[in-house]
Amino acid sequence: MIHLKVSNLHKQFGGLHVLKGVSFEVNGPELIGLIGPNGAGKTTMTNILDGAIKPSSGTVYLNDERIDQLPPFEVARAGLGRTFQVTRSFRRMTVLENLYVPALAMGHAHGKARLREKAMEVLEFLTIDHLRNEFAQALSGGQQKLLELGRLLMLNPDVIILDEPFAGVHPKLMEVIYAYIRRVNDEGKAIILISHQMDSIFSLSERLLVLNFGDLIADGPPEDVKNDPAVIEAYLGAEEEETA
Ligand SMILES: Nc1ncnc2c1ncn2[C@@H]1O[C@H](COP(=O)(O)OP(=O)(O)OP(=O)(O)O)[C@@H](O)[C@H]1O
Ligand SMILES: [Mg+2]
Repeated sequence: MIHLKVSNLHKQFGGLHVLKGVSFEVNGPELIGLIGPNGAGKTTMTNILDGAIKPSSGTVYLNDERIDQLPPFEVARAGLGRTFQVTRSFRRMTVLENLYVPALAMGHAHGKARLREKAMEVLEFLTIDHLRNEFAQALSGGQQKLLELGRLLMLNPDVIILDEPFAGVHPKLMEVIYAYIRRVNDEGKAIILISHQMDSIFSLSERLLVLNFGDLIADGPPEDVKNDPAVIEAYLGAEEEETA
């Protein structure tokens, strides 16, 4: 069974203490929302989990393998993948080629025909198969997000962290991303969904984590977390005021 164990993570950038002892576990194919104000440390935590940066202290284990000192490609091989708040793709490669890269890099290739078949399946699911021969740079912002999700699907990770997958995405494409999240979760993958869009978070998540300036201030069922005074004080209350 999937088991992610994050223990007492700290991260300091110079004098700035961005993560102040974050601990939580993911057991099995959970669908977890991660929220918190701008600058709370959500992306920093994601960067540590995927190996892009090292924690100042603390540990991360995935399925009993310690991953917090591994580079990103080894973390991916261990079974954890993420998407980026600001999308990254190979802009001068075609959509299809973009999907081949991670699979080839991981040595997942089982022959070119099989790889193409899998990539086409992924593109069809994401409704961008008609764009397969376009350069990635020709895609809209929302389509780029879908392409990035596609690259993750090709890797088939156990744990997927989605950093703001809905930001700047057309509502029609949002539906596609919702379906993607639900399908991948149904297939047995654990998902951590980072978003400022409360509607999306509350309609998808079964469990909610709240990060507030480096502290995990809540972890539980969304309905409980929503009514937690500390959370309202720190985040949800302020959000409502802003959007009122
Ligand atoms: N490489 C870095 N060097 C110095 N400070 C950094 C670095 N990366 C992040 N920070 C700081 O760490 C804090 C947390 O940033 P982070 O991007 O993790 O927040 P976030 O919760 O993802 O916010 P948002 O909701 O805006 O995406 C911020 O104060 C940010 O400026
Ligand atoms: Mg962020």
